[in-house]
Amino acid sequence: MDKRKVLVIFGGMSTEHEVSRMSVTSILCNIDKNRYDVGVTGIDKDGTWLEYMGEYDKILNKNWKEYTKPINNLFEYISNFDIAFPVLHGLYGEDGTIQGLFELLKIPYVGCKVLSSSVSMDKAYTKILFDRANIPQLPYEYLYVDDNKNIKLIDKEFNELYDENDIITKVENKVGYPCFVKPSNSGSSVGIKKAESKEELLEAIKFASKYDKKILIEKGIDCREIESAILEENDEVKVSVLGEILAAGEFYTYESKYEDENSRLSIPAKVDKNVSDYIRDLAIKAFRAVDGKGLARVDFFIDKNTNKVYINEINTIPGFTNISMYPKLWENSGVSYTDLISKLIDNELYRS
Ligand SMILES: Nc1ncnc2c1ncn2[C@@H]1O[C@H](COP(=O)(O)OP(=O)(O)O)[C@@H](O)[C@H]1O
Ligand SMILES: [Mg+2]
Repeated sequence: MDKRKVLVIFGGMSTEHEVSRMSVTSILCNIDKNRYDVGVTGIDKDGTWLEYMGEYDKILNKNWKEYTKPINNLFEYISNFDIAFPVLHGLYGEDGTIQGLFELLKIPYVGCKVLSSSVSMDKAYTKILFDRANIPQLPYEYLYVDDNKNIKLIDKEFNELYDENDIITKVENKVGYPCFVKPSNSGSSVGIKKAESKEELLEAIKFASKYDKKILIEKGIDCREIESAILEENDEVKVSVLGEILAAGEFYTYESKYEDENSRLSIPAKVDKNVSDYIRDLAIKAFRAVDGKGLARVDFFIDKNTNKVYINEINTIPGFTNISMYPKLWENSGVSYTDLISKLIDNELYRS
């Protein structure tokens, strides 16, 4: 069989640009070269697409652009491939925008389609869908901050509330303290703060609004963090064993995710079988709720005080280094890293 041409794309304009360069290096070093002809494109932080010609491990270097050449006709360039594999995290990569480009070019691509990508990237909208699916979640509210720093809260029926004091009272009554304040479109914990008082809440809203005008405020709990991996194969949605994050630091911040060597993963997570079955079922339900395709990592909290399970979020392009949770969960479920990459590609190639 002829080798199929795969375009692997990394970098991007989001706050997770560097994380993408870590994910892609592992993917490129491990993708089955006997099966695929691999083309590599980097998107720089300004959004310029560059054909990458260098050695794979040099993508991690700050000067990776030295090993690239410009792409003259982007549409023509992309159309030369059989399939695209966007290894991009966050805005403009995981949020449906690049997926829309592939749709327009009629090129198959790995992972979630436009709708599932965009709703899963937006924490407030994912919550609305999870509510509809009766998946347990922590109490939350969301609001918008306008250019003049005024805030506007959106209630369950999409009514708008403008008075700042009323908004704070509503958040305090429904969510309370501590709470987590998150830019609705974000990832890798960027822009997230924990607030213990009204002053900290207002400060956290201001901070989060630097990253997104839409802000989610969620009840904070003392919790274990349990994650699951979804892989779709021949239209069957499969779920991995569970893993637990043992974060260094107060919560799982950007630094504890990528820089602190004391953060560890425990796989399989030490939870009772009935709890594990329950969480794995919820993960599949969550994937369906967002109309997911291909893959996702679905993250949960277990309240340490009550043992109650809550969904946290769904990531449609999860971290993908060979030591990241998503591939590790599959490895522990019997799918090697290289096979996982092949499955993700073939699942799309042979669908189209
Ligand atoms: N409601 C919460 N209660 C306790 N910890 C939380 C809560 N929300 C977020 N966190 C902590 O913040 C981290 C990042 O939040 P998350 O919603 O997963 O955002 P991101 O998309 O950036 O990963 C979580 O992994 C967890 O450590
Ligand atoms: Mg997270």
